[in-house]
Amino acid sequence: MEKIIDESKQGESLVLENKEQNTRKLYIESYGCAMNFSDSEIVASILSNQGYNTTQKLEDADLVLVNTCSIRDKAEQTVRKRLEKYNAVKRINPGMKVGVLGCMAERLKSKFLEEEKIVDLVVGPDAYKDLPNLLAEVEDGRDAINVILSKEETYGDISPVRLNSNGVTAFVSITRGCDNMCTFCVVPFTRGRERSRDPQSILEEINDLWARGFKEITLLGQNVDSYLWYGGGLKKDFDKASDIQKATAVNFANLLDMCAKAQPHMRIRFSTSNPQDLTLDVIETMAKHHNICKHIHLPVQSGSNRILKAMNRLHTREEYFQLIDNIKRLIPDCAISHDLIAGFPTETEQDHQDTLSLMDYVKYNFGYMFTYSERPGTLAERKMEDDVPEDVKKRRLAEIVQLQREHSEIRTKQYLNTVVEVLIEKESKKSNKEWSGRTSQNSVAVFPKAQYIIGDLVKVKITDCTSATLIGEAIGLSDNQ
Ligand code: SAH
Ligand code: F3S
Repeated sequence: MEKIIDESKQGESLVLENKEQNTRKLYIESYGCAMNFSDSEIVASILSNQGYNTTQKLEDADLVLVNTCSIRDKAEQTVRKRLEKYNAVKRINPGMKVGVLGCMAERLKSKFLEEEKIVDLVVGPDAYKDLPNLLAEVEDGRDAINVILSKEETYGDISPVRLNSNGVTAFVSITRGCDNMCTFCVVPFTRGRERSRDPQSILEEINDLWARGFKEITLLGQNVDSYLWYGGGLKKDFDKASDIQKATAVNFANLLDMCAKAQPHMRIRFSTSNPQDLTLDVIETMAKHHNICKHIHLPVQSGSNRILKAMNRLHTREEYFQLIDNIKRLIPDCAISHDLIAGFPTETEQDHQDTLSLMDYVKYNFGYMFTYSERPGTLAERKMEDDVPEDVKKRRLAEIVQLQREHSEIRTKQYLNTVVEVLIEKESKKSNKEWSGRTSQNSVAVFPKAQYIIGDLVKVKITDCTSATLIGEAIGLSDNQ
């Protein structure tokens, strides 16, 4: 189950409201995490000022951009296949230019230009503001590349255009990069050191979204709980900040509180939380505000202390249980989800059993589960042998997925015959007579449309369910509109 954000969105070409005066056509496709989808909106915004409108037809494009993911080998292979497709189209439309953005651009750098003849442009995640200059070089007939990672870049001053938006939910980036150095993970190499965005620009973006009719935002970062604003600069340099900067610094709990108060009717989600950084303050702030959704995505990766240590995850299984207990104590109805990796180097059957027993303890609402994929340059790749055979990894993953299915079913069934609050996002995929939306706990719920419209927050009586979806009937608008 290779899934980071809604699977149906992977590789989606994104379009936005176009400007009449723009004459050139941009086709932009995104893979991987929510941050990539959010970054593509920033890129579209930058290029909209350079005469580009977006198109959903690859064949019509003057410029094709693919925002790439390096997290697992499979993600990279998907992009390589897309490049073959672009190549076929370029034969019909030779003027078309192709650019690679995101984590593969950062990881492979100029190698991309050598390996893939189709590629004209390689741009890393911190260099999108340089796109106008890079495109000018491409137009002059030269290949162009900028993969410089930045200490400051957070794109806080760019108002993203909302691509393929349902007009109801939006992503808002709050941190970039990651300092954690989990030994399996390529992200610290492709997205650089951690830095936080000015809270003022975050609040302005949220206020603007509310004014434009949006009803829910997700604060995004690789490790949101580590958010720290002290006037700019890297998180690791906080020690060197002045006393005034330290005294007025804004941490994640403060930021959540500020956002929840600034727009008391806007639903607020956040992702992703790293167990070692999720503080009691954050959980208390969630408990205090009705508009902060009661769901925490809390990747654990493994249930074995030995493997957690080898992964450089800075907490034990027991500390994780304590955190879960604290969450359930302060927010009894909080949903918890996970990421898990099967078959990290040296993982034994006993380690795997520890993962299954950890899952039994937590009974996660849902999760994203992967087999270990060795990534070049990571500490695990340099120091450890990828020694769990592929068939063993797959079997362990299947056991994890099966157990998760059972837990999801238990969790979903708990909502039978209760009334939940659902924000309507779109038409249900299964029926054009039904709406689909999510509860505060992030469960999908479907129900007959009746008189309601997209963007309504409705009370829904749950009468039935599948393992992952709630089925019910709307019984009125929520008082928390
Ligand atoms: N903190 C990030 C994590 C990004 S990676 C966030 O915002 O979600 C998402 C998930 O991919 C990780 O939690 C991990 O479970 C998985 N992952 C990362 N590197 C991996 C690898 N080398 N092999 C398999 N899965 C991996
Ligand atoms: Fe990767 Fe660990 Fe950061 S999974 S993104 S290094 S928290």
